[in-house]
Order: sequence, then C-alpha cells, then structure tokens
Amino acid sequence: MPKEYSVDCDRRVVLAAGSALILGAALWPMRSLAQGTDGKLRIGVIGSGKIGGTIGGLWVKAGHSVLFSSRHPEELKGLVTSLGALAQAGTVEQAIAFGDVIFVAVPYGALPQIGKDYAAALKNKIVLDACNAVAARDGAIAEEVERDGIGVTSQKYLVGTRLVRSFNTMSYMIFAREANRPDPKLAVPIAGDDAEAVKVAAGLVRDAGFDPVVVGKLADARRFQRGNPGYGQPVSAAEFKQKLNLAP
Ligand SMILES: NC(=O)c1ccc[n+]([C@@H]2O[C@H](COP(=O)([O-])OP(=O)(O)OC[C@H]3O[C@@H](n4cnc5c(N)ncnc54)[C@H](OP(=O)(O)O)[C@@H]3O)[C@@H](O)[C@H]2O)c1
Repeated sequence: MPKEYSVDCDRRVVLAAGSALILGAALWPMRSLAQGTDGKLRIGVIGSGKIGGTIGGLWVKAGHSVLFSSRHPEELKGLVTSLGALAQAGTVEQAIAFGDVIFVAVPYGALPQIGKDYAAALKNKIVLDACNAVAARDGAIAEEVERDGIGVTSQKYLVGTRLVRSFNTMSYMIFAREANRPDPKLAVPIAGDDAEAVKVAAGLVRDAGFDPVVVGKLADARRFQRGNPGYGQPVSAAEFKQKLNLAP
C-alpha cells in the first residue's frame, strides 16, 4: 500500500488547486493507480468491540470501506448492517488482506499472538494501534509496557508493521459523542516512526472527526500511554500541546 501513495502527487494537487477545500484534501495522501484519487481507504479492523466498532463506524461514515473482523464474524452482523454498504464483517485474516490500513483494538495481551499468527500478512502494513495494557486484564505484558514504553512494545510484537499509536487515550463513549464536534475538535495524540504511516493516521484521525496531534516517535507514545500525562485528556489540540509542552 505505501508505494501506492505519493507525496509528489499531493504537491501537484496543491499546485493545481485554487481552494482551501482542495488544499485540505491534498494534505491527505492520495491513492494512486489502484483505487483512484478520492482518498478513500480500505480499513481492516482487528477487534471490533467497543473501540474498534466505534472508530471503524466513524470511518465508514466518512466514506471509507471497513472490514470489521472477529473470531466469530457472524456476531458482527448487527454492527455492519447498521453501518450500511461500506461495512462488512469477516475473519481477522480477511481484515488484514482487505486493509490498506489495519486498526487494532484488542486486549493488549492478545497482541503477541496476533503478531505471531499473522506476521506475514501484516508485514509492511500501516497499523493503527489503540490497545492499552492493563495489568489486571493483560498480565505480565503490562510490566513490559511500563518498562519499555507502549509504542516500542507494540512494535516488538507487531514486527514488520508500520505502526502508529492512536485512539488509545479516551473512552469509546467520548469518541462516539465528540466526533465531528464544532471546532475546536478534540485532540487525538498519535506517534510513530514511519513518517508516511503517521501522515495516513493523521488523515484518519481527521476523517473520524478529531484533530491529530503528532507527539513524536513510537518511543514518545509513552507520553500518552495509560497513567501518563497525555492519557485521558478530552481537550483541544492547542490545550493538549500545552499540557505536553509540544510546539504549538
Ligand atoms: N473501551 C474503550 O473505551 C477503549 C478506549 C481506548 C483504548 N481501548 C483499548 O482498546 C482495546 C480494545 O478495548 P475494547 O474496550 O474495545 O474491548 P472489547 O469491547 O472487549 O473488544 C475487544 C475485541 O477484541 C477481540 N479479541 C480479543 N482477543 C482477541 C484475539 N486473541 N484475537 C483477535 N481478536 C481478539 C474480541 O473480538 P472477538 O471475540 O469477536 O474475536 C473483542 O471484540 C483494549 O486494548 C483497550 O485497552 C479501549
């Protein structure tokens, strides 16, 4: 997928565009040959529960095609029916094959197994990771997260992926309620080592109805992991940057 996006293409569009609206669209990496230039993506969701179902649903409403996966896909019938034609249900394997971008929202303790079982299919995929480590639920891996930081730990288990931490800091109820609110939108911090993946993630944060704040590399995702100052902050981007002493 990454090679199907072109930053040069963005620039050409910017030059050609006269309006701020088109300028905005140009900042979103454009699809090249494979899927036209409408900027819509195919997204595979692993873990279609509270957060996966909510954020995936917001992307469907924004016009993206989303395959929600489950180990029991038949249980997702209600969700995909309610979301309409751009939503479908399938297995985890199908979601990974379908997605230009994969959104992972499973209990953190399930990440190592997913990374192992689907290593080949996940290789080089842009993966947005919303999983939080909770000791009571996830066990010893929560200590590893505490010690090494969550971005570094997720990358260790989702090896070979172009990982971006995102959508982990607030409750799905807040995401559902505050999406697309009038400006200032709610900030969603993101962090990743792959610049293009971060750019794609930022576009998807905007499409979900929020304001992306790039906190830094995966090592910096620690700053908004559970228990740290950037976690659980339902504030605007300007306020969030102030809280974390990021450049305005
Ligand atoms: N809830 C929130 O407000 C919120 C907010 C931010 C971040 N998070 C984080 O997001 C993650 C998901 O939380 P959630 O509240 O959405 O949980 P949830 O409602 O229980 O959904 C999690 C989903 O993960 C799937 N799953 C579990 N084990 C799996 C495995 N081994 N392989 C594949 N899929 C598996 C389950 O799908 P099937 O059983 O259908 O396969 C389940 O639907 C957690 O790490 C959580 O900390 C949650």
